[in-house]
Amino acid sequence: MIELPEPPRLSVPSTTLKTSYLVGEQADMKHRGSDASWLKAASLDFDAFVAERTGVRERWGVASELFWFASGEYYLGSLVIRHELTDDEGGGHIGYHVVYPWQRQGHATRMLKQALVKCAGLGIERALLTVAPHNAASIAVVRRNGGVEDRINSEGEMRFWIDTASA
Ligand SMILES: CC(C)(COP(=O)(O)OP(=O)(O)OC[C@H]1O[C@@H](n2cnc3c(N)ncnc32)[C@H](O)[C@@H]1OP(=O)(O)O)[C@@H](O)C(=O)NCCC(=O)NCCS
Repeated sequence: MIELPEPPRLSVPSTTLKTSYLVGEQADMKHRGSDASWLKAASLDFDAFVAERTGVRERWGVASELFWFASGEYYLGSLVIRHELTDDEGGGHIGYHVVYPWQRQGHATRMLKQALVKCAGLGIERALLTVAPHNAASIAVVRRNGGVEDRINSEGEMRFWIDTASA
C-alpha cells in the first residue's frame, strides 16, 4: 500500500492535485461503469475546472461547499457540505465519495469525521445524511461517526442524524 506523506484532510480543490485527481476519478468512473466523458474537459482546462468548484456556491438552491480529501500530492475523494437542507431534505447536509483506488482504507470514515467538525463550525448542530439501503459501505461510515437512524425518505433512502458536537 502507498504510505501517505501526512494524515489526509479536507481542503479546498487545488490545481496542484491535477494528475492525482484525474487518474483517481477516471479509475473510479471505470469501476462504477459511469460516464467519464466530463473528464475530457477537466483535463483540457483543469484551472477552470477547479475555479468553478471553489468556494461557497449556490447549488440545489442552497449554499454549498466542495472539499477534496487529500494528503500531499494524493487526491483521495470529495465531499460536499450543504449549509442548509433543501426543501425536500434530499441528500442531507453532507455527500461524499472516495475514489476506488483508495477505498476500504478508512478514508471515508475519517473524511466524514472532519466534515462534522466543519458543520459544527457552520452552526449545524445535527447533520442529516441520506444513504441508499443497499450502500453497506456508506451505512458503516455513517454509523461509525455516530449516525442515528431516523426514517426512510420519499426516495427510499435511509436518513441518519449525527450530533456534530460529538465529532
Ligand atoms: C461509501 C464509500 C464512501 C466508502 O468509502 P471507504 O473509504 O471505502 O470507507 P471506509 O474505508 O471508511 O469503510 C468503512 C467500512 O465500510 C465497509 N465497507 C467498505 N466498502 C465496502 C463494500 N464495498 N462493501 C461492503 N462494506 C464495505 C467496511 O466495513 C469498511 O470498513 P472495513 O474495511 O474496515 O471493514 C465509497 O465506497 C464510495 O465512494 N462509494 C461510492 C459513492 C458513495 O456511495 N457515496 C456515499 C453516498 S451516501
